[in-house]
Amino acid sequence: MVRLALHKMHQKLAVRPILFLCFVVSLVTTTLFYFSTVVSTSPQELVRAALEECARDSRYAEVYRRPDRLPPGYKYLLLWSPPDIEPIVGLGSSQRAFLDHNCSVVNCYVTTDRNLLGGDLTRFDAILFDGRHVAKMKRKHLPPVRHPRQLYIYFNSESADNYPVCDECFDDFFNMTVTYRLDSDVPWLYFAVQDALGHVVGPQANMRWAQPARIISSPLLDRLARKTRAAAWFVSNCWSRSGREHLVNYLQKALVPYKLQVDVFGQCGRLKCSRTVDTFCDKLIERDYYFYLALENSFAEDYVTEKVWRAVNNTAVPVVLGGAQYDRFLPPGSYLDAGQLSVAELAKRIAHAVRSPTYYSRFFRWRELYSWTNKLLEKNVCAVCAALHAPRMSTARYGHFRRWWHPEYEERCGIKDLSPSLL
Ligand SMILES: *[C@@H]1O[C@H](CO)[C@@H](O)[C@H](O)[C@H]1NC(C)=O
Ligand SMILES: *[C@@H]1O[C@H](CO)[C@@H](O)[C@H](O)[C@H]1NC(C)=O
Ligand SMILES: *[C@@H]1O[C@H](CO)[C@@H](O)[C@H](O)[C@H]1NC(C)=O
Repeated sequence: MVRLALHKMHQKLAVRPILFLCFVVSLVTTTLFYFSTVVSTSPQELVRAALEECARDSRYAEVYRRPDRLPPGYKYLLLWSPPDIEPIVGLGSSQRAFLDHNCSVVNCYVTTDRNLLGGDLTRFDAILFDGRHVAKMKRKHLPPVRHPRQLYIYFNSESADNYPVCDECFDDFFNMTVTYRLDSDVPWLYFAVQDALGHVVGPQANMRWAQPARIISSPLLDRLARKTRAAAWFVSNCWSRSGREHLVNYLQKALVPYKLQVDVFGQCGRLKCSRTVDTFCDKLIERDYYFYLALENSFAEDYVTEKVWRAVNNTAVPVVLGGAQYDRFLPPGSYLDAGQLSVAELAKRIAHAVRSPTYYSRFFRWRELYSWTNKLLEKNVCAVCAALHAPRMSTARYGHFRRWWHPEYEERCGIKDLSPSLL
């Protein structure tokens, strides 16, 4: 807000931009400091940020110039959806995120201000749409004018099955996608696979996993030997499109003969683990549990979330359920896919793992060769700005965007159900 106000004031009084900006910032700081004893601390935060920004990097001050004097070479991104939702929130506002993450390309400027470039929407280089909003949007909610040079970008971290695109105005509409799908223009993933040197090598559509190690280190074997409980499931959403809750019920029954069970934590279960200490639940998984249920809330290609990462990162074997081809994300043999096994077979393998240290340890034969990281924000944010400066045009793929995003969108959107019999 403060930055916006500054921008507008400056538009009126175009004098020596940077000095003027910093002068205004200090003026506002003083004023707000006075009020901040009464009001909340957030305006102070904003001012502090603005001060830091003009002290930090002269390139930053450039963006406060009048729109008709904006430096060439910047890409202006307009957020058409609210800015505070994942993953768009990662882009922050203004140029800050790109500078903070030390991106190799930083000349991108993010705003929600539709009037920034003199109220002319066609002057933005890119307009970003969040998938959760797109799911509810109609033609009348779209920007009223469009320049052929502009890129319309679809952002989404949520599954296609929870947020299908139903309105036909979105076919032949987007130029670029930023989603968890591996075939997005900019894949924005929940986690990545690293090799032993720390280089990101996956996930990939045709992932080639190294041969597993024959021997597992004894510290790891010792840790595995101390586990005592079959499986944990942490869940807060008790009803899902994937029906994972039914799977868990059947699995509980199938585990009874083995005198084992799934420990269900969170709102849909009886167990709690303290969230006051951030890592307490993670430590619990690592110490006690052979398996961790990484069941997605819906089925969609490549939709593999932090649940899988959590299992792997806590030395537990993931039991997965989802619409992905999981060998893009995990070495075959390092997980159990509940979508590929009967519940009886799943229970049998879990029980076998609990009884046989040798069988269980085989799931861990890749652990010295790969690691899984969820520290991807920097990479993702930088990739967006870089992609805008070097767009890879693939408009053709998005001609039938609704189908690209959700191959069964007609059923999911109820488009087919409205066919002749009902009319
Ligand atoms: C960016 O670079 C600065 C200066 O080299 C460094 O202090 C900072 O930690 C870096 N930030 C990130 C996110 O790597
Ligand atoms: C983006 O896609 C639209 C619709 O397909 C198209 O008209 C426009 O030319 C494309 N823009 C660029 C820069 O390719
Ligand atoms: C889990 O993630 C943390 C932070 O990224 C990392 O330091 C740790 O080594 C990981 N643990 C395992 C078992 O991969």
